[in-house]
Amino acid sequence: MRLFILGGDGFVGWPTSLHLSAQGHEVVIIDNLSRRHIDVELKVESLTPIASPAERCRAWREATGKTIHWETLDVASEYSRLVELLHAWKPDAVIDFAQQRAAPYSMKTPRLKRYTVNNNVSTTHNLLCALVDAEVDAHVVHLGTMGVYGYSDTGSAIPEGYLNVEVQGGDGQRRSVDILHPTNPGSIYHATKCIDQILFAFYAKNDGMRITDLHQGIVWGTQTRETALDPRLVNRFDYDGDYGTVLNRFLVQAALGYPLTVHGTGGQTRAFIHISDTVRCIELALRHAPRRGERVKIFNQATETHRVRELAHLVHRQTGCPIDYVHNPRNEAVENDLAVINEQFLALGLNPVRLHEGLMQEVLDTVVRFKERIRRERIPCVSAWTRAHDTQLSLPPAIDDALVKQPKLDALSCIGELAS
Ligand SMILES: NC(=O)c1ccc[n+]([C@@H]2O[C@H](COP(=O)([O-])OP(=O)(O)OC[C@H]3O[C@@H](n4cnc5c(N)ncnc54)[C@H](O)[C@@H]3O)[C@@H](O)[C@H]2O)c1
Repeated sequence: MRLFILGGDGFVGWPTSLHLSAQGHEVVIIDNLSRRHIDVELKVESLTPIASPAERCRAWREATGKTIHWETLDVASEYSRLVELLHAWKPDAVIDFAQQRAAPYSMKTPRLKRYTVNNNVSTTHNLLCALVDAEVDAHVVHLGTMGVYGYSDTGSAIPEGYLNVEVQGGDGQRRSVDILHPTNPGSIYHATKCIDQILFAFYAKNDGMRITDLHQGIVWGTQTRETALDPRLVNRFDYDGDYGTVLNRFLVQAALGYPLTVHGTGGQTRAFIHISDTVRCIELALRHAPRRGERVKIFNQATETHRVRELAHLVHRQTGCPIDYVHNPRNEAVENDLAVINEQFLALGLNPVRLHEGLMQEVLDTVVRFKERIRRERIPCVSAWTRAHDTQLSLPPAIDDALVKQPKLDALSCIGELAS
């Protein structure tokens, strides 16, 4: 298949691009490098030293003989170029990772709330609109989040996207219908994923678009078989209070002997998936596209659930690092249960990598290798969900808004090389 991978430079997009290229697909990455830009703004870098886009593509060619094509483009604002690219390449499928994906970052300032909504909703809508405009019948595979369902207890396992309900008609008869599961976003970032769902339902109904929405759990791990082939192919690894995902953050803290910061009681239950399974799920979703006219296919892309304090205890047992219960900057339930149905991927043959101590050791080894690059002051999460939460945090604001307005672009100076 010929594949467009929007956001293919990111934490999930990069290993997916390599994996699908290794499988023999023709891969075109489209990315505006905004994530590298945000690194500069937040004064923190990926724990692993990621190579420039040009270097990444060159290393892949040298390691495997395969070519990954690259287009630097902002999907949220460069609509006409997007249409031109779709015309020129006519991809069979488009995988969409191109969004601002950190909940704490999306709650940081009014400017970043607006950026997150403008960027995420526009990337989704521009893609859908451009496919219709360019008359390209590509299967859209979008990365959503388990967070669209919210984390309040419903008392039952979360179904895959649709909820079966009974309604009473005017004739008094009761009928069973499937509705999109009600949304309950916990941040502005999660709210954008809820809006995406409505846009997908509309374009599937109105234009017969073939769309798969993957409600993904929190990703942990860093390397996949392909990213481990060459140091220049290494995947990014975020550990800071905005972008670091919980287990990866705990492992960084453990390597530094920095007490594991559990927010509140740590009673929040979340869904998780290892990076290698994420990549496999996307491959499975590509192979099982919905037909034209079918409703949006929704998968729960998560393989296990854990309470945050259970994860902290797991890391504590393995490393001896103490646990520090700190104020929770989020506006959320103190404790919640969570059961997730994920039968569709299991039925398609997914054999999940479960979280166990051996695998955590692999991540710990990566952390120890690059320990010198860690900036301790970037570890705490200082984005407060409301003013009331803000006043309870005794930490300085995380970023200097003056810097944000004029970000340094050094990280992007590599783009010119891509022409070679
Ligand atoms: N990482 C997780 O734990 C996780 C969990 C659930 C869902 N997801 C979803 O998976 C997707 C990928 O997440 P990730 O962790 O790889 O994020 P990431 O921030 O590492 O990567 C996103 C990529 O998209 C690019 N991008 C953003 N806006 C763009 C635009 N307007 N035009 C072009 N490129 C743009 C960025 O430069 C970056 O390379 C996101 O949609 C995210 O919401 C991630």
